[in-house]
Amino acid sequence: MSDYQNILVKEQGRVGIITLNRPEALNALNAALGAEVLAAAQAFDRDPGIGAIILTGSERAFAAGADIKEMAPRTYMEMYTQDFFSDWDRLAAVRTPLIAAVAGHALGGGCELAMICDFIIAAENAKFGQPEIRLGLIPGMGGTQRLARAVGKAKAMEMVLTGRTMDAAEAERSGLVARIVPAADLMEAALAAAETIAGMSKPIALMAKEAVNIAFETSLAEGVHVERRLNHSCFATEDQKEGMAAFIEKRPPVFAHR
Ligand code: CAA
Repeated sequence: MSDYQNILVKEQGRVGIITLNRPEALNALNAALGAEVLAAAQAFDRDPGIGAIILTGSERAFAAGADIKEMAPRTYMEMYTQDFFSDWDRLAAVRTPLIAAVAGHALGGGCELAMICDFIIAAENAKFGQPEIRLGLIPGMGGTQRLARAVGKAKAMEMVLTGRTMDAAEAERSGLVARIVPAADLMEAALAAAETIAGMSKPIALMAKEAVNIAFETSLAEGVHVERRLNHSCFATEDQKEGMAAFIEKRPPVFAHR
């Protein structure tokens, strides 16, 4: 874990914390940083001792986008044959709940990375945007799709076509972020949410995440069907028995997490 060059990784109890750490480039996402984020998130995902993951940056920038200096000379053939940016789909496939704790700039790939996470907690100074069009580019890490789903067509179109940024208040009003907190409280708030999730039964949390994500992939009837089947599966776990027994016995549950 300690040989990462572009991120800091630590565990706090059952929470894994990944901090983007390229301050000289406002955490711009170069290929090396991307590979490290993915490796760290996948390692946490495989670890039964981890129940939630926080992805964060610095006070000044969550991430200012894909690395423009690295991308600038690339050719169409390189982008296409290497299927550039597709590795980020593997981060979206991480099953452990993933919280983005965002302060400062979350632009381009930075905004897209935050949206890959399951929800965003934003500091008051957070700014979100898809300014790629100003570079003669369009988003490539899912921005046109996830932003449209998060804030609706009108705002997504406006942001993607003009490159304008949204401040934290507008992002919360629009449904892009779950909650805004004072900048100084960002990590505390993210940790509190992550610890709450990590204190639940892990398999049940995985099912809850899977069920919500289905809403973005399928019809209502199909989604409700999947939800119901997953709900039924909860009854095959020890943790459902423990959770309900604890409620009836008026005591806190002790989940096995398995
Ligand atoms: N890539 C590479 N380097 C970046 C970067 C990026 N996306 N964003 C910032 N940096 C670098 C700057 O070049 C600068 O480095 P130098 O000191 O070596 O010149 C350093 O970070 C600090 O940046 P600024 O001096 O520009 O800081 P600022 O406070 O004046 O401005 C900013 C901050 C508004 C975020 C500005 O840096 C900016 O506009 N960055 C680019 C944002 C952007 O266009 N992002 C989209 C990238 S494309 C993309 O993400 C494609 C995709 O969909 C995957």
